[in-house]
Amino acid sequence: MNIQHSLTIALTKGRILDETLPLLAAVGIEPTEDLESSRKLIISTTVSSIQLVVLRGSDVPTYVRHGAADLGVAGKDMLLEFGGDGIYEPLDLGIARCRLMTAAPKGRSLSCNSRRIRVATKFLNVARAHYARKGVNADLIKLYGSMELAPLMGLADEIVDIVDTGKTLAENGMEAREEIAEISSRLIVNKAAMRTRHSSVMALIDALSTVLKERGMLAGE
Ligand code: PRP
Repeated sequence: MNIQHSLTIALTKGRILDETLPLLAAVGIEPTEDLESSRKLIISTTVSSIQLVVLRGSDVPTYVRHGAADLGVAGKDMLLEFGGDGIYEPLDLGIARCRLMTAAPKGRSLSCNSRRIRVATKFLNVARAHYARKGVNADLIKLYGSMELAPLMGLADEIVDIVDTGKTLAENGMEAREEIAEISSRLIVNKAAMRTRHSSVMALIDALSTVLKERGMLAGE
């Protein structure tokens, strides 16, 4: 892989990092220290022209859109909520798969027939678009975590949240209702970097696609 330009890749701790590092390692990019235990936010790699920055998931699209990072790995949920102009999304990495869903307490009759419902979520834009498509009047309540608690405590009628195993919903007497989107992590690229550092960005995209293809993980194949 021929990376002539310096490139900064934005990652986020947790499942995305755990599943991205093996892909980067397969193309010869390894952090020079343990990202999970280190408190450093800028980490060099075994490829001298490539550095990693570790951010909150919701900040990855922002860093890449503004060109503070050239590339990033972000969940489709974050891209639907915070993505947009200034970002290319050339590769579905097929990792950190889950679903973005509405959910409500088990058996509680659905709200979609009611004229107005209260919805707790951290995905305000996604939720607004979803309920508008359905013609449901939704009062959105922004939360930053533990969304499942909101209907149980009478704060909301339903939630819009990520469902992976479904365990959190089940253990809190809730059930998934409607699927809004299937989620996986995407490689994203700053549009200006795609022009000014084209050969290096493309070398990285091509190397990662080859690894995904070899592992049978390339979307649409
Ligand atoms: C996410 C999501 C759900 C849970 C779903 O929470 O918000 O609460 O995972 O996973 P499951 O279907 O496998 O139970 P996360 O742990 O990221 O924390 P959060 O509450 O801060 O969003």
